[in-house]
Amino acid sequence: MNTYILAIESSCDETSVSIIKDGQEEIATVVLSQMDTHANYGGVVPEIASRMHIENITLVIEKTLTKANMTMDDITAIAVTYGPGLIGSLLIGLMAAKTLAFTYNKPLIPVHHIAGHIYANNLVQRLEFPLIALVISGGHTDLIYMKEDYSFEKLGGTLDDAVGEAYDKVARVINVPYPGGPLVDKLAHQGEDTYNLPLPLDDDSYNFSFSGLKSAVINLVHNEKQRGNEIIPENMATSFQNRVVEILTKKTMKALKTYNVKNLIVAGGVAANKGLRERLTKECEENNINLIIPEIKYCTDNAAMIGAAGYYAYKLGRRADLSLNAKASERLN
Ligand code: KG4
Ligand code: ZN
Repeated sequence: MNTYILAIESSCDETSVSIIKDGQEEIATVVLSQMDTHANYGGVVPEIASRMHIENITLVIEKTLTKANMTMDDITAIAVTYGPGLIGSLLIGLMAAKTLAFTYNKPLIPVHHIAGHIYANNLVQRLEFPLIALVISGGHTDLIYMKEDYSFEKLGGTLDDAVGEAYDKVARVINVPYPGGPLVDKLAHQGEDTYNLPLPLDDDSYNFSFSGLKSAVINLVHNEKQRGNEIIPENMATSFQNRVVEILTKKTMKALKTYNVKNLIVAGGVAANKGLRERLTKECEENNINLIIPEIKYCTDNAAMIGAAGYYAYKLGRRADLSLNAKASERLN
């Protein structure tokens, strides 16, 4: 018998619901992004995000079922992102999931947001183990070793800013509007690497640090301004992106070699970055590594990835009861 997971994701500024068959097949997904609203404020405003989730969640659930041509009777279980994320936003999706589970008497499956980002790749191609996952988003920069489904061993992570956060902050100082990441990426392809920026935390660990690099950009911009000069945004974007891509690639390739792993997956919003995709593709070809990066629609927050992860959590017997609470921060497990 097939397993149909109805998944809900509301950890930040996307209200999303999806129905996934057997962890791999997307039946229907609806993503309602609030990005245009938050763009007016230069970033996500948590209070506005939760209010918009409240307004939209029921509609998005109904729309997804209609799109799938299914009813709740066809659904095996409900999966939901319970953390990490914005607490107010998470609570809305969680309440909706609990209500559905209670009303229709379905199992409730708690899914960690990062497990979701990793399992987005399972919608592209069945994950092969062991693998290394590079998870890069607005809130995370993690290198994770997985020897089998749902086994997560963190090798390293950021000590300060997440890589997406650094992109968004650098965007602001070079006058690129929110959300900065995609636009900085675009500019980086139009400029030259002329600015002398440091390669951040170039050591033997699997940890990352982007706040120094970000500060170096801010200082350069300020110094140039004081001298009455303007910086060239394209060249700053190229210089910044080159350092980011260099350090992410270097540590990821080292992890693959050290752990003797032949499968690499990249996940999270920053996986949409073209510069990184190009560089990793080249390195993986040269080193005989099987690289999977999901399509852009699966890189940014969506419920399809929660449904894919939720299926394996369900198979492992993971269940939550109605006391499940939202967690602003939570270790991947
Ligand atoms: O995974 P995501 O949608 O949300 C979080 O869970 O954080 O990631 C959003 C982050 C933002 O910081 C955004 O600027 C960044 O991903 N991002 C990019 C690109 N596309 C999105 N960063 C660099 N290059 C991109 N092409
Ligand atoms: Zn995310």
